[in-house]
Amino acid sequence: MVCVPLAKVAADFLRPIEPRSATAQRLHAGRLSDFAIGSVTHIPAGRCYLARTENGLLALRQKCTHLGCAAQWNEDAQRFQCRCHGSEFDRLGDVIGGPAPRPLDVLPITIENDEVFIAATQPIERAAFDPAQLTSIDDDAQSSSATP
Ligand code: FES
Repeated sequence: MVCVPLAKVAADFLRPIEPRSATAQRLHAGRLSDFAIGSVTHIPAGRCYLARTENGLLALRQKCTHLGCAAQWNEDAQRFQCRCHGSEFDRLGDVIGGPAPRPLDVLPITIENDEVFIAATQPIERAAFDPAQLTSIDDDAQSSSATP
């Protein structure tokens, strides 16, 4: 029956995000060149997004800070949207609407030899975006990190 699978898909989409295993602690997100300036890229294995700005990288946890549903990036609207109760976040994770009490959590990033890694199980709460939360990209992109 068609309704049952659709209901399961909807339930999976709306369910709160559960903690990941220790194996996801240092997730390989891709090569630095995979992330264009201005892009927001979904990293499904980390349940997070990687936003690249002119000044660096920001890994944003997908878990909505209201009640834990998965916020989704809407490229057309240029914002994260949570379908559970309507919270919205800008590309840096700051709240721009809805009941969410604080920005999306950020995740530590390291860049080693042009490869980007995310500590997907180490979310960091914050009150607002601060440029110090960005992981800077060295000219040679060899090694850099940030501790928000
Ligand atoms: S869980 Fe996202 S708005 Fe309520």
